[in-house]
Amino acid sequence: MVAHRVIRLVRDVVDYDATRTFYREFGLTETTPGTFASAVGGEQLELRPAEVPAVVRIDIAVEQDSDLDDIAARLLRLGAAPVRTKTHLEAREPVSGVLVRLLVEDRLARDAPRRQTELRRDDLVPHEPVRPQRLGHVVLGCADVEEAKHFFLDGIGMRLSDYVTSGPFMRFDTDHHNIVLIPAPFTLLHHTAWKVRSVDEIGNGGSQMIANHPHRHAWGLGRHAASANYFWYLRDPSGAFAEYYYSDMDERAPDRFFWDRLPDQPELPVAVWASPSLEQAPLAAPLRGVPTVPEEMPAPLLETHPGPSGR
Ligand SMILES: [Fe+2]
Repeated sequence: MVAHRVIRLVRDVVDYDATRTFYREFGLTETTPGTFASAVGGEQLELRPAEVPAVVRIDIAVEQDSDLDDIAARLLRLGAAPVRTKTHLEAREPVSGVLVRLLVEDRLARDAPRRQTELRRDDLVPHEPVRPQRLGHVVLGCADVEEAKHFFLDGIGMRLSDYVTSGPFMRFDTDHHNIVLIPAPFTLLHHTAWKVRSVDEIGNGGSQMIANHPHRHAWGLGRHAASANYFWYLRDPSGAFAEYYYSDMDERAPDRFFWDRLPDQPELPVAVWASPSLEQAPLAAPLRGVPTVPEEMPAPLLETHPGPSGR
């Protein structure tokens, strides 16, 4: 496996200042205006002010320079017109129109599993704000997920973990998923997911986020079925969601084949349990083309870029 993690997401957002405030309060560190770092993943989110929200670019890390040539050759065979420079490789996924940049970067250290015996009651009281450790996955709405998945699976070399809500969940290594495509009328950012260190940090972080902003609450606390991670989704001011998540399964994956689907494996439900129930969840709204931003905020236009192919 040569591509090993999502480095960074670059987004155009309509309500730039409110969205910056949201991600600062979410626990990311704003290193320069609009650029946000996680605790161990470095600068992983870049926001740019714009008239229309858009997924501008996803940066993906590979291990070595020759990997860029291998991926370029595969993307060329797929007709994706990759552009190779001295430092990186770029190609636009043709269905969504999203630009993907691949570059050589070090792997992050694997997250250490947390043992229950390490728990001390004093530690349950948070002494500092929750700080997401790293960007775990990016979920894109896309008009033709079956066509778009080839770019990531056959071009970049990701592996398919599961289908959930008819969307391919794809991974680089031992995380259950790192890039997800879900059916939507047009290209949009559905959510980014940020790993925290425990279920308690999900609860603490989510509670803090909604304490004075109840409209931010979207869905959670809950536990997904296929990937087994715990979650809490919050609505950001620019029409996407931000997920705090914690997994005690990804760390147990002994190798990159751990999450491979069996050929006749049935699709699992989105969540094993959650509050509120799935029927009440607003997460499906953007996938039907319905803006998700609450009434008290100025309603942004959802991105309407159909991709260069016109789909
Ligand atoms: Fe997620």
